[in-house]
Amino acid sequence: MVILFHLSGEDIALSAREVIHLFHLKRYFLQGNFLAADVSPRKAGLAHRLAYCRGVYSFLFSCPLSKLAAAFSTFSWNKACTGTFCVRVFRCSAPDGRLAPSEKELAGYIWRKLENPEVDLKHPDALIVAFIHGHKAFCGKLLFSIDRTFSGRNPHQRPEGHPTSLKPALARCLVNLSGIHKGSVTDIFCGSGGILIEAGLMGLPVNGYDLYSVMVEKARKNLLHYGITTFSLLQQDALETKDTIYYLVTDVPYGLNSTVWVNQGDKPVKLSASFPAPGGRIVLLRDFYRRLLIHLKKSLNGVAVIMFPSQAHAATLLSESGFFVVWKHTQRVHGSLSRDIFVFTLKKNAAKQFRTKRQYNLRRTTAHSRPETSGSRIR
Ligand SMILES: C[S@@+](CC[C@H](N)C(=O)[O-])C[C@H]1O[C@@H](n2cnc3c(N)ncnc32)[C@H](O)[C@@H]1O
Repeated sequence: MVILFHLSGEDIALSAREVIHLFHLKRYFLQGNFLAADVSPRKAGLAHRLAYCRGVYSFLFSCPLSKLAAAFSTFSWNKACTGTFCVRVFRCSAPDGRLAPSEKELAGYIWRKLENPEVDLKHPDALIVAFIHGHKAFCGKLLFSIDRTFSGRNPHQRPEGHPTSLKPALARCLVNLSGIHKGSVTDIFCGSGGILIEAGLMGLPVNGYDLYSVMVEKARKNLLHYGITTFSLLQQDALETKDTIYYLVTDVPYGLNSTVWVNQGDKPVKLSASFPAPGGRIVLLRDFYRRLLIHLKKSLNGVAVIMFPSQAHAATLLSESGFFVVWKHTQRVHGSLSRDIFVFTLKKNAAKQFRTKRQYNLRRTTAHSRPETSGSRIR
């Protein structure tokens, strides 16, 4: 079935990738904050996990905005509108000067096509939405909206807060970028458990490691608070983990709010934002990350999603260590901090599963969703 994902628009590249990796899409269509792709109906429910998506629609048709009224008037609505219905029009980008038909006008076209039409503006059985993007209109029927409130899960709302912890949306998105459907998620720098909480709430077993027992205890309390019981937590140096990892999702310590032990010469030193060697901190951190990647070569047998500070130029470290970067994305946090999200694997074959093309021909849609009129041709 062709599904239309209404992306949240905070960071289109990241939100589109989240969908692409979660559904292992080989082809997709992306315009503005709409992504359309063929998704097996069995898998469509996975979309509830998405962090940066507002709603999921079964795709009905798209057309030039100037032909929207004609498309509505000729589409066969019997299948799409069983029971009560409602039409909504959303403008997603600056208007291009043309006026969209009103919701009332569009609803009128549906009304005239149905045998026993009934409108319900509050709780319709079929919510039909026309999204206007520039001079194009995308029309879909709502399958479900996605709860993006993350209520009570922001770092300061958890029983055990910590300034280094990720916000739930980003943590959730990182988990989805790994493409995991089943299996367990491991965070080797778990801190107070930001990533583990989101993965656990998706129903995935989680494993966390942290150098500090106080952080491990915070993670334990937080996980239990959110009703997550399938987890294992260990106080352990990330450079010394022994288990094989299939889905690694983590945010490395930057030595700013989270301290990290690094080697200076032969001596271990505790690195923090106030480290006294100007310009030296990142050199020592890169050395720490290099050693981490060398260690991961032995333990990673799947996909890793890791955030590094951009200053660390982790792309070089990854290629020197023999990893294949599937996707990289830079996010600016504030004036002096940007971070790079990397999705990578060790094996070339595993990297293949993420290959995708932005070349989806919406014209060749399934019989179920193909518009039945020439007025609703898709380009
Ligand atoms: C950026 S925080 C992790 C935040 C966490 N992902 C979250 O969202 O709540 C980094 C964590 O790495 C831990 N850490 C630092 N050095 C470590 C090491 N060598 N091994 C394991 N954990 C380490 C710190 O104690 C800190 O809790």
